[in-house]
Amino acid sequence: MAEVVFEPRNIVVTGGCGFIGSNFVRWVARNHPEVHVTVLDKLTYAGNPANIAGLPESQVELVVGDICDADLLDEVVPGHDAIVHYAAESHNDNSIADPEPFVQTNVVGTYRLLQAARRYGIRYHHISTDEVYGDLALDEPRRFEPDDPYRPSSPYSSTKASSDLLVRAWARTYGLAATISNCSNNYGPYQHVEKFIPRQVTNILCGIRPKLYGTGENVRDWIHTEDHSRAVWDILTKGRIGETYLIGADGERSNIDVLREILSLMGEPQDAFDWVRDRPGHDRRYAIDPTKLERELGWRPVHTDFAEGLAQTIEWYRTHESWWRPAKEATERRYAEQGQ
Ligand code: NAD
Ligand code: TYD
Repeated sequence: MAEVVFEPRNIVVTGGCGFIGSNFVRWVARNHPEVHVTVLDKLTYAGNPANIAGLPESQVELVVGDICDADLLDEVVPGHDAIVHYAAESHNDNSIADPEPFVQTNVVGTYRLLQAARRYGIRYHHISTDEVYGDLALDEPRRFEPDDPYRPSSPYSSTKASSDLLVRAWARTYGLAATISNCSNNYGPYQHVEKFIPRQVTNILCGIRPKLYGTGENVRDWIHTEDHSRAVWDILTKGRIGETYLIGADGERSNIDVLREILSLMGEPQDAFDWVRDRPGHDRRYAIDPTKLERELGWRPVHTDFAEGLAQTIEWYRTHESWWRPAKEATERRYAEQGQ
């Protein structure tokens, strides 16, 4: 198992008010009280300061602003020893409807952060997705590996792929001390109601029928967001500079199987959902081979019982209606306009 080679004390976490970023900030606050976190977040529709509320003010500070703003980065970044970059436009369906903010935040924003990390000579960890590798056939035994070719399908995944390539180039050409991680689909608390699992759970809580795209056969590789947080910490502190690590927890499941599990955990009949219009260009299957992360850094997922993690997540949405309710109506209106 790799030794700790980097001990961060003062990190910038971009997108720390979003789903995965806020889970990471809370994880760091719990597990590394010696580390100060500056969250830089624009608070788009997907960012919510409530996601990091209650953490010690001496440890976690929120700066509201845009990662594309180079002058702001010159104010925020000095004095920190690493940038952990989560901020992004993150939803495929939105990227199909309007790709512009995806190009701006995911590509230009990453470029500005890389330049800032260079100017101040600090570490940079880039959070990305397995979707940069395109998709796999439902029946092929292969899973994604770090050196696979990039074949993104959607505006979202192509902007994430672009940002990854910028990071690789900055590491090689400018010697930036960067690492990249590409993770599979996350689930857990604080995920926006536009995403698959929270949408179906909150639909049922609202008396709306869940909505399944296409045939429901598409496969996603689910990981609990807390396992993702620990993997990012391990890569930041023990990973080899310039390397790409894939994060996944052997959680492959078809969408219809996940939906049926939700229906059964929530006491609904197995056919109590609607089939809706498929997503254009819908990726069939994602699957991660996490061998490199496990062998080099000794990381293993803890949340290996999907049904249990799903039940806890459902319970979180049941008991946090005031968190998700304000976004629900507008989200469903947008989906209805798209026939989904
Ligand atoms: P999210 O949409 O829940 O959160 C994104 C956050 O970024 C929000 O707080 C938002 O306000 C902030 N943000 C957006 N544009 C910004 C800008 N220009 N400047 C500053 N802040 C900005 O997203 P998420 O699902 O938590 O994803 C976080 C990261 O993880 C993304 O980079 C995403 O590509 C990656 N990822 C997500 C998944 C998944 O399953 N959701 C899987 C693998 C990787
Ligand atoms: P999503 O949560 O948007 O994540 P991603 O597109 O990054 O995989 O969707 C997960 C899967 O669920 C994807 O195959 C699309 C499908 N899906 C539905 O079937 N119904 C829905 O209402 C949503 C939002 C997604």
